[in-house]
Amino acid sequence: MALRFAVLTVSDRSARGERPDTSGPKLKEKVVAQGWEVLREDIVPDDLLLLQDTLTQWADWRRFDVILTTGGTGFAPRDVTPEATQAVIERPAPGLAEAMRAESLKITPHAMLSRGAAGIRGCTLIVNLPGSPKAALENLDVLIPVLPHAVQLLSEDAGAEAGHQFD
Ligand code: MTE
Repeated sequence: MALRFAVLTVSDRSARGERPDTSGPKLKEKVVAQGWEVLREDIVPDDLLLLQDTLTQWADWRRFDVILTTGGTGFAPRDVTPEATQAVIERPAPGLAEAMRAESLKITPHAMLSRGAAGIRGCTLIVNLPGSPKAALENLDVLIPVLPHAVQLLSEDAGAEAGHQFD
């Protein structure tokens, strides 16, 4: 199953061209290594309304199964990615964020400083990852095993229910 992804880097400095975006390309590399596709990538500043707008447009195009954001999940005043995500999702998926934080806490206590959220808009799953390449990849590693089944369920594939009988 070739999952279709979009990757949105959220960073004032990268959006201004002051710092190269390394997290977006690293995430793409890992997604593609799973045999999945990244159909869209962009960099936006830490701006609540712009973020909401981008996430809404990307989800409503219905071309993406999963939108990964990276950055803007911390405690700095301009870190508003979780707020933008919560404003546009229709159904929260707290288990994903809980699992990412729980696993990340085994690596660093700083994991508790990520306020990243996850949820569903239409048929698209939106997941916030932290901003550093290391943190973004560590968090993505936690998601990878469950994403195919998550997307299968979202696409209302009747066969998806069959997957549960082996759980
Ligand atoms: N999670 C993992 N797995 N590894 C990390 O190194 N860094 C943390 C945290 N989550 C980290 C992590 C740090 S230092 C911060 S400040 C928060 O993510 C928020 O990062 P962000 O503001 O770049 O989104």
